[in-house]
Amino acid sequence: MRLTDEEKKMLDGRDGPSVRKSMEILVALGDIYDAEQMVPVASTHMPGSSIVVAGEAGLRFVEEMAEHVDHLAAFTTLNPSAMDRAQWKELSLRAEEVEPQFRLTRAYEKMGAISCHTCTPYFIGNVPRLGEHVAWGESSAVAYANSVLGARTNREGGPSALASAVTGRTPAYGYHLDSNRKGHLLVKVTRPIKGFFDYGNLGYHVGAIAGDRIPVFLGISPRATPDELKILGAALASSGAVALYHAVGVTPEARTLEEAFGGAPRGESLEIGDQELAQAARKLNKAKTSTVDWVFLGCPHISIQEFGEIAALLEGKRLHSGVDLWVSSSPATKALSDIMGYSKIIEAAGARIVCETCPVLALTGSIAERKGFTCITTNSAKMAHYMPGQFNILSHYGPLSQCIEAAMSGQWRR
Ligand code: F3S
Repeated sequence: MRLTDEEKKMLDGRDGPSVRKSMEILVALGDIYDAEQMVPVASTHMPGSSIVVAGEAGLRFVEEMAEHVDHLAAFTTLNPSAMDRAQWKELSLRAEEVEPQFRLTRAYEKMGAISCHTCTPYFIGNVPRLGEHVAWGESSAVAYANSVLGARTNREGGPSALASAVTGRTPAYGYHLDSNRKGHLLVKVTRPIKGFFDYGNLGYHVGAIAGDRIPVFLGISPRATPDELKILGAALASSGAVALYHAVGVTPEARTLEEAFGGAPRGESLEIGDQELAQAARKLNKAKTSTVDWVFLGCPHISIQEFGEIAALLEGKRLHSGVDLWVSSSPATKALSDIMGYSKIIEAAGARIVCETCPVLALTGSIAERKGFTCITTNSAKMAHYMPGQFNILSHYGPLSQCIEAAMSGQWRR
């Protein structure tokens, strides 16, 4: 790989051992993928922010890096952690369980990372522009950055994202190159798609077929909301490994069908209607019992608009006595929800607003056992997909209104 004089000096250790180590990681990665050069990154988003993902080895790596780094070369936000710092005791966690997470977050903070602990950093100020290179991890955030914002990122792991944060560089390969951003697969949507549930089902069905190819959607409304596009990407990246999608007339690199494919040959073509959407929903409904004990809303972390919708559905109501309802977001969005009065309404109904974490990245084994949770009820295709495999917690899956109704009755009605 061709390095600039500045990059060579970093690699030679001029800026200390952490910068040298970071350049070594990035050069090795670039060599594996035949990158010709490095490109500057506008921001990074750190996937290894939960101790559940980082583990002891990851914690050691981040702490060692932090010893010699007092500021990062790129604006950096942190993905969800394993707990909510403000209420880990209420979630029934113990001090010895959360201590490694506190150390991990402190190490990132020492380097200058913003400890927002959210998977929707684009709602709180990490908003790269069209064509900008970034180094993000977290599959749903990567899909949003590439597809909705038109920024350019590969799916980074913890070490490579941190190496980019420290150096401000990433090797130019994969989704950083024009040639790798063209559509592969045409998806014709044959009926109107509206709401979080429809978009989740669409993404879940198509992701399983697309694998790591780039789908091009035709028939998505130009008025699709950021929340709808957010769950579309999250679901595509759950059943498949989609890191970039185009929606013609909606996303910035697909103003026309021709632009979305960019002259690349069009391979397979799919049609999606009622039947395919219903099939996706059926696959995600794995719980065998109708009893509801844990309802989770907020995968990906919810926006201020979703806070408003949930508050409207809960106003004046009370949860069933055997049900916990978690609403999950970033502390920044929750602060806005507090100002708007939404949090008060949600909490008055008996629900808990849990920030900085989510069941997939939390110390959920301990939490579920101590709280007696036996299944999860959610409106998120991504959450319903991961919980059975990760924690053997089966899912009820349906639209927001059905999840709220289940939280009131304690029963899942099919
Ligand atoms: Fe975010 Fe956790 Fe879902 S990281 S996308 S809430 S699995």
